[in-house]
Amino acid sequence: NYYAILMAGGVGSRFWPVSTSDFPKQFHDMLGTGETLIQKTFHRLAKLIPEENIFILTNERYNDLVLEQLPGISQRQVVLEPAMRNTAPCILYASLKIQKENPDAVMIVAPSDHWIEDEEAFSNNIKTCFDACQQSPILATLGIQPTFPNTGYGYIEYEDSGDEDIKKVSQFKEKPTYEKAKEYLEQGNYLWNAGIFMWSASTIVNAFKEYQPELFALFNKGMDLYNTADEADFIEENYPKAENISIDYAILEFSKSIYVLPALFDWNDLGTWGSLYDKLDKDSDKNAVVNSRIIADDARGNMIRTSKDKIVVVDGIENYIIVDKEDVLLIYPKSKEQDIKKVLQNVKTTFGDQ
Ligand code: GDD
Ligand code: MG
Repeated sequence: NYYAILMAGGVGSRFWPVSTSDFPKQFHDMLGTGETLIQKTFHRLAKLIPEENIFILTNERYNDLVLEQLPGISQRQVVLEPAMRNTAPCILYASLKIQKENPDAVMIVAPSDHWIEDEEAFSNNIKTCFDACQQSPILATLGIQPTFPNTGYGYIEYEDSGDEDIKKVSQFKEKPTYEKAKEYLEQGNYLWNAGIFMWSASTIVNAFKEYQPELFALFNKGMDLYNTADEADFIEENYPKAENISIDYAILEFSKSIYVLPALFDWNDLGTWGSLYDKLDKDSDKNAVVNSRIIADDARGNMIRTSKDKIVVVDGIENYIIVDKEDVLLIYPKSKEQDIKKVLQNVKTTFGDQ
């Protein structure tokens, strides 16, 4: 009864110029290991879940990329979105399809672009949550010990009541202000939301019915068509009408049945060049290098990635991101990595679509 929903519809704009809307980061080998992020994630999940029960949710423009990179899967497993509406609509749509196929399904919903090294610890965490989700109608998430007031994450306040591994959540707050995030860290009983969820199909569908009745009504009226030839037409017409909202704001901030399991593995959501830098091996001057051959003098702490085997010579440069593609070269301070999203906007306005 185990299923997976792999979310692969984001654009990863802070990883420009490598990640673009035509070819987003989940389809790149960001870590230089020979596998793309979506391939890594798929193989990690396939250790727990039958491959034919792993569904990939993505924009229709990435259909070919998914089938090319995951050659073992069938078109049935690729759930295509005709418009970008964030994670709530696609999770509801896919959950209804899965529920129709198997009313007893228990699923994991996972991003396709995270870094997780200890796969055994990951599997153990998932099994614990699957067991809990089979026993009661809970929404389970994995929690990460926070290390600084990051405002890009969801914060989970939990009740520390004894020795249960999996803890009741008293409050879920998506992307708080910096001040709030600092308060949460000082209080101590908060975890970061890893964005990896587990629940049964019926529990998540009921949560949508209760907390997002309009979204539920929109997708539920197509229920009879799912997994038939008429599904695509229904989705083409109705999906764009869905509200643009993430699962965190749509469900997690409202539900009273959320539980969190502290993650036993090291986790990184690979959101920026700096977070990728943190996870890569470094040379003796702390430069992280992917694909390039470098000669470095007086150069430290840089994130360098070029096309394969390009020779890069750096001197007198510290804590920079140096990334190239055929037609773009980015040299940008690591401390301003969050601004790359805005830089990309600027580039688009000045030079046209990227
Ligand atoms: N299929 C599909 N369609 N996938 C999407 C879409 C969409 O419209 N939008 C985003 N995704 C995918 C992204 O590719 C990513 O893998 C995942 O869904 C999460 O989306 P993000 O946009 O990266 O979310 P976030 O980083 O702002 O916040 C979420 O993740 C944090 C941890 O990384 C939240 O769940 C936070 O609470 C959490 O802390
Ligand atoms: Mg993210």
